[in-house]
Amino acid sequence: MSKAFVCGYPISHSRSPLIHRFWLRKYGLDGAYDPLSVPPDELHALVSRIRAGEFAGGNVTIPLKEEAFTEVDRRDEAADTIGAVNTLWRDGVTLWGGNTDAYGFAANLDAEAPGWATGGGTAVVLGAGGASRAVLHALVERGFDVSLTNRTEERAEGLAAHFGPRVHVTPWEERQHLLQHAKLLVNTTSLGMTGKESLDLDLSTLPSYAVVTDIVYVPLETPLLKAAKARSDLQVVDGLGMLLHQAVPGFERWFGVRPEVTPELRALIVDDILKAHP
Ligand code: ATR
Repeated sequence: MSKAFVCGYPISHSRSPLIHRFWLRKYGLDGAYDPLSVPPDELHALVSRIRAGEFAGGNVTIPLKEEAFTEVDRRDEAADTIGAVNTLWRDGVTLWGGNTDAYGFAANLDAEAPGWATGGGTAVVLGAGGASRAVLHALVERGFDVSLTNRTEERAEGLAAHFGPRVHVTPWEERQHLLQHAKLLVNTTSLGMTGKESLDLDLSTLPSYAVVTDIVYVPLETPLLKAAKARSDLQVVDGLGMLLHQAVPGFERWFGVRPEVTPELRALIVDDILKAHP
């Protein structure tokens, strides 16, 4: 039986077990996927258990993604570029680390806003934290020019230097002016999350062909997405799909079946979010 895990610290909030167990059941596979609470100084020992064959691999979440980057023998291109590993698997004696967040971000938009990347254009990205790195990787790969803005400008400058000339930094105070040129608007900050303040943006200047998305998915409809929907001409994509799609490549590596993101899976996770945040 193939066994996989999600490790993090804390881990109780993770919805990955719900996703992978749904697929194990759906495809009738004899496998297991368990949450493991792993403090940073115990990641090395867990990785040894993959090397020893106890696990096919696993997912890595906060705060272990950067540490996992240093633990593996080889990394895929996305992990190298993003600087973090969220998926581990074994290939013979080689322990691989990948990052599926950029894939998940793009696959969600491919599914929910087909044509979103056709012809490139300007994407406006709010935020320069860990999630922003994955989003920038996906956007540069898909041929966008990116206007990046972050409350702490040095962090945005650091990402622009890392991702090259397609990423341009605009001061946070001037973010409103970016919207008139945006084909895509992405929030990667924690603003709009349940319990946090909202993004303060007037969406009326966005072009009617713009797509608006948020990587925050609790609540599912963030104030940003709600304001975008109120305009009725914009395409609006919530952040839950990124979580579902980023899980696909790991499942395929550990269990040998490429799983599908379906309305049933989405409904299961939406129910769980609503249970935790009625
Ligand atoms: P993650 O890995 O999820 O991206 P993070 O690295 O903590 O998390 O980044 C959080 C992002 O939200 C950052 O861009 C942060 O801006 P700073 O770099 O200035 O900290 C942004 N953020 C959080 N609270 C914010 C606030 N009140 N106003 C503006 N931006 C905020």
